[in-house]
Amino acid sequence: MSERPLPSALGRPLVIAHRGASGYLPEHTLEAYALAHGLGAHYIEPDLVLTKDDAFICLHDIHLEATTNVEEVFPSRKRDDDRWYAIDFTLEEIRSLEAHERVKGRFPLGASRFEVPTFEEMIELIQGLNGRTGKEVGIYPEIKAPGWHADEGHPTEKRLLEVLARYGYTERSSKVFVQCFEPSALKKIRNELKSPLQLIQLISDDDRHAPLRTERAMREIAAYADGIGPYKGDIEAMPDLVKWAHAQNLAVHPYTFRADDLPEAYATFDKELEQFYFKYDVEGVFTDFPDRVLDFLANR
Ligand code: G3P
Ligand code: CA
Repeated sequence: MSERPLPSALGRPLVIAHRGASGYLPEHTLEAYALAHGLGAHYIEPDLVLTKDDAFICLHDIHLEATTNVEEVFPSRKRDDDRWYAIDFTLEEIRSLEAHERVKGRFPLGASRFEVPTFEEMIELIQGLNGRTGKEVGIYPEIKAPGWHADEGHPTEKRLLEVLARYGYTERSSKVFVQCFEPSALKKIRNELKSPLQLIQLISDDDRHAPLRTERAMREIAAYADGIGPYKGDIEAMPDLVKWAHAQNLAVHPYTFRADDLPEAYATFDKELEQFYFKYDVEGVFTDFPDRVLDFLANR
């Protein structure tokens, strides 16, 4: 804990595979993670939620229906709001589901067969590939909705650290960033659970997160975290956000860069990347297309 400064020593620019190489394969599948590793991403992101029996699974939503066939397999297991919650299913039940593409126009719906992996399976895949290739690709887990999980009787923070420790992620220099939108979870990890791991405060474009997009907030975040993960449009609207973060030795990793969903302001994906890496001066980006970002950096 006393060795807090680190972001500047991390090596940059970083390329973070968002939900795996999700521009090419269904998000949060072992196939998408393996491809991200093969394409050369520096870090690979799993979003994490818990099952009824407290297994972390790799899933973006607390609900299952956007990326699995849960409605067909368990038609009667929805709550009164017509949603199927991962927390209502055991890991064995989750394993009986098929995962599929979320985004229209990407990987063909119904083609091939994919599953929802556990966090442990994701780690074992990345560590196994690291061993076979000699690479040191890191992991970048996001705890989804820790407050909601706690209200459901399933706290997440300690459990996450236990899983990470089992796989050797215990040091400040371990190749892992832990990210979360909820400051209370990161404060718990740093202050209560005394974790030295590098923590990233995600900042959404939601009005409720406006207080986190200020110079003063950067000073407050620096007391418990090592970087910020803001929505990229908020950096465009307020480039000083990066300067304020850097003044507190916070790394800046905006999301999400998509070659197939380019903002109108940029003629090409490379121009968008040029603007963020070299004008706004961010240390890394979350991208669905890690190969395209690596190509851009290699050819610049
Ligand atoms: O965690 C960075 C970015 O992934 C946040 O957005 O909604 O894709 O998890 P989301
Ligand atoms: Ca995420």
